[in-house]
Amino acid sequence: MEPCILVTGGAGFIGSNFIRTRLQESQGSVITVDKGTYAAGPNNLTGLTDDGRHRLVAGDIADRTLMRELLQEHRPAAVINFAAETHVDRSIVFPEEFVQANVMGTFNLLDEVRHYWDGLAGAEKDGFRFLQVSTDEVYGSLPLDEAPCDEQKVFAPNSPYAASKAAADQFVRAFHRTYGLPTQIARCCNNYGPYQHPEKLIPLMIHKALREEPLPIYGDGRQIRDWLYVGDHCAALRRIIARGRAGEVYNISARAERTNLQVVGAICAVLDEAYPRKSGSYGELIAYVADRPGHDRRYALDSSKLVGEVGWRAVESFESGLAKTVRWYLTNIEWVTAVADGGAYREWMTVNYSQRR
Ligand code: DAU
Repeated sequence: MEPCILVTGGAGFIGSNFIRTRLQESQGSVITVDKGTYAAGPNNLTGLTDDGRHRLVAGDIADRTLMRELLQEHRPAAVINFAAETHVDRSIVFPEEFVQANVMGTFNLLDEVRHYWDGLAGAEKDGFRFLQVSTDEVYGSLPLDEAPCDEQKVFAPNSPYAASKAAADQFVRAFHRTYGLPTQIARCCNNYGPYQHPEKLIPLMIHKALREEPLPIYGDGRQIRDWLYVGDHCAALRRIIARGRAGEVYNISARAERTNLQVVGAICAVLDEAYPRKSGSYGELIAYVADRPGHDRRYALDSSKLVGEVGWRAVESFESGLAKTVRWYLTNIEWVTAVADGGAYREWMTVNYSQRR
């Protein structure tokens, strides 16, 4: 019988993509714990909740009683922690929420997992993994003339979000060094793909373009991000759990550095082909707005350790992944509308963009 895994934050963007492919590729069961914040799209797990191998539990990873009960009841072979507040702009407005969710949440979860793991024995204990899903933002902004960061790069987080993820990573490391908990940390770059909340650059631009609204570019738009298709990210995570070593950190990148202007230009070009405007190009909607405070200029990751140790390679190029993504948003307009027409989204749009004009 294939083992059960416990996935936290599984109703969010990356978590839901991970669970979908995990259920397709394995006979094992999945326990999802999700707090159901604004980021947990109500329809992200459509089609998965009636799969008998999947159980969705509404709850917070900081609820130690709940986590203890779930761990004892299901005895997972791995815990994958996707649960987090993830949006940099929100962290600038509401920093404390990021400390609670990302630092305290991860700490409480780790401590419960440690007690559970202590009670395991033999192969169950040796094979257990706690995988923390982290980010390239812990390394801070990379100068244009420097090579992509490897896992040895010293932390230099610049936003409250990045600082909260860096703190969580340090706890994960400490739990391995102090208690021997077989932890792993995966640091990925900017994800994109189906089910991404339209507060983030790529789905935001697709959504706004289709509504013929201005496409807000922060600052000069020359900031560089390293883009990774979510399906490739999830495949890397599965391999890290299956083949990666305990106590290790793995960077995940498909080596697709693009400026924000290049990304938005590419989205407009795909839309011009797939869904032409009555007149003109979507690119004419681009509007420069005030920059994000502390905006990191460049992120880029070196993932040769991951490639060498677990044999992962990205399947999608930025161009193929973006074309798939735009197609998904065009055929799932009702999903985007359900999120974007909600009060929480409209409120956030006002908070974040009204002062940028
Ligand atoms: O690098 C990995 C990180 O990528 C993850 O850890 C974060 O959880 C995820 O949110 C993402 O962070 P970013 O801040 O890079 O993503 P975001 O989509 O918010 O912004 C991407 C770039 O686009 C960034 O340079 C800011 C810019 N931007 C963003 C928005 C929302 C704009 O120019 N205009 C916008 O309206």
